[in-house]
Amino acid sequence: MFDFTPDADLPKPELYRQLVDACDAITGGEPDAVANMANVAALMAEFLPALNWAGFYRLVGGELVLGPFVGRPACIRIPLGQGVCGTAAGDAQTQLVEDVHAFPGHIACDAVSRSELVVPVIRGGQVVAVIDLDSPDLARFDAQDAAGIERLADLLADRI
Ligand code: SME
Repeated sequence: MFDFTPDADLPKPELYRQLVDACDAITGGEPDAVANMANVAALMAEFLPALNWAGFYRLVGGELVLGPFVGRPACIRIPLGQGVCGTAAGDAQTQLVEDVHAFPGHIACDAVSRSELVVPVIRGGQVVAVIDLDSPDLARFDAQDAAGIERLADLLADRI
């Protein structure tokens, strides 16, 4: 049994250090990408407060395809350049969206989502996936969240 015991009251840098360490421990040495994304989605949902969706979209055949996640069922395919995820993948840039209703082209998978953080996972200079976090709270994510998830994306680049 894996028993990680996150403390959501920790300062964000420490919370993300513990999250990245847990993801490192659980994915290290495991070659199966689906297993690794599934466990990382579960850990993000356990460690990070005030989320309603946490998971992955993978770049497959030039579009994003839904990967392992925790949350409500979500849209399956997203073209590059569309929505928050497609923008992050198309530009290879983190998207930190304080109010999804103000993001042109936002794709609503769960009507309660109000803010979103999407970070590309880049391997060998190519986007291979994105990590997507949604929150029911406005402006849930800040630069510390983005930095923490970017460290996680770096860790996962050759594990998913
Ligand atoms: N809101 C995303 C779609 C994915 S769901 O949030 C899970 C977007 O605009 O790309």
